Amino acid sequence: MAPLSRLLVAVALLHAAAAAATASNVHGDHRNSKPRYDRVFSFGDSLTDTGNALHLSPSGGGPASRPPYGETFFRRPTGRASDGRLVVDFIVEALGLPHPTPYLAGKAAADFRRGVNFAVGGATALDVHFFESRGLAPFVPVSLNNQTSWLKNVLQLFGSAKEQRKITSTSLFLVGEIGVNDYFIAALGRNRTVGEVKAFVPRIVAAIRSVVTDVIATGASTVVVPGMIPLGCEPQLLAQYKGTVGAGGYDPESGCLTRLNGLAELHNRELRRVLAGLRRAHPGTAIVYADLYRTVTDLVVSPAKYGFRSRPLVACCGGGGGAYNFDDTAFCGAVGTAACADPSEYVSWDGVHFTEAANRRIACAVLEGSHGADAPTLSNSWATMEAWRRRIGCV
Ligand SMILES: *[C@@H]1O[C@H](CO)[C@@H](O)[C@H](O)[C@H]1NC(C)=O
Ligand SMILES: *[C@@H]1O[C@H](CO)[C@@H](O)[C@H](O)[C@H]1NC(C)=O
Repeated sequence: MAPLSRLLVAVALLHAAAAAATASNVHGDHRNSKPRYDRVFSFGDSLTDTGNALHLSPSGGGPASRPPYGETFFRRPTGRASDGRLVVDFIVEALGLPHPTPYLAGKAAADFRRGVNFAVGGATALDVHFFESRGLAPFVPVSLNNQTSWLKNVLQLFGSAKEQRKITSTSLFLVGEIGVNDYFIAALGRNRTVGEVKAFVPRIVAAIRSVVTDVIATGASTVVVPGMIPLGCEPQLLAQYKGTVGAGGYDPESGCLTRLNGLAELHNRELRRVLAGLRRAHPGTAIVYADLYRTVTDLVVSPAKYGFRSRPLVACCGGGGGAYNFDDTAFCGAVGTAACADPSEYVSWDGVHFTEAANRRIACAVLEGSHGADAPTLSNSWATMEAWRRRIGCV
């Protein structure tokens, strides 16, 4: 194609994109046709925590408070459980928004106006008392209930109900991932069978449903709810269950544990069913399901396609060696452990959490959304989503 005609095609495409953007009716901004969110409020666990656990614990919040955490991006430990940015970081960067303030790091309205992150490493969907009454010890005394009451505390600071709704209706709410710790505390960390853990699924999903309902009641117009990650692909669980499952216990394509992935799929089926009900009950709110399961499984099954090396079930950082490079007693950052030379070639950072490179791919998938009649996305405009994705290097 000659340069001029190529230019004309490009111009035509731009016009088409602009027309599509104008025609689209996008949640999050009712004042003009340009889709916009002003800030992010996020809930969750260590996959989303950008500094709360650091403030919660006098001893400083575990491994993520020490090197080599943060070595790739912030160049220092920030409390993020990764070598760099988390999914929430990439999402705000794509949308051109500031990084939300970790709730426990702020005090006044001014600290929170640009968004708040309520996620705490180790947090559970279910209440602390649920575990304690069963003789189980949660990692931290923080559940989704705590995080919702923190949201209410923050909204109070913004003044009248009308002022609060002005804030909530122009914000993007991110509820999860949450639930990994529940499954882990209830069973996976104690060698219980997957069958025993399954009983917890409806309760955990009900806790997520309850936050989404609360958030909608505050005036949210867009809520993203990420599903469960493929638990059976986690180096930590692969190492723990090694030798206890026969060859038939592994998915031949991914090498992941089939029963644990089955648990994650069960969680996600229940979650999607519940979200469909919420969409019917709240047609004015865009409730977006983010399919982390499919995204992470894709990275594991086709690593080269996404720029990862060929053994995606091996943790980058830690002292375990072997097939998964994971050992609880030689966790990433402990004396005698080391990080791999290039974390961007790995999916798993420390056997439990993702590398920055994997988090970027997950954010890319969240921003793209899954298309379908009953699956709203963050914007109805393809051009807008492409612009967001381009900003963080997805395309
Ligand atoms: C979370 O809520 C529980 C139950 O109300 C409470 O016992 C706990 O102290 C709260 N955690 C924090 C960090 O405030
Ligand atoms: C789980 O089982 C494995 C293998 O039988 C054992 O080595 C490990 O100590 C057990 N872990 C717990 C927490 O009981």
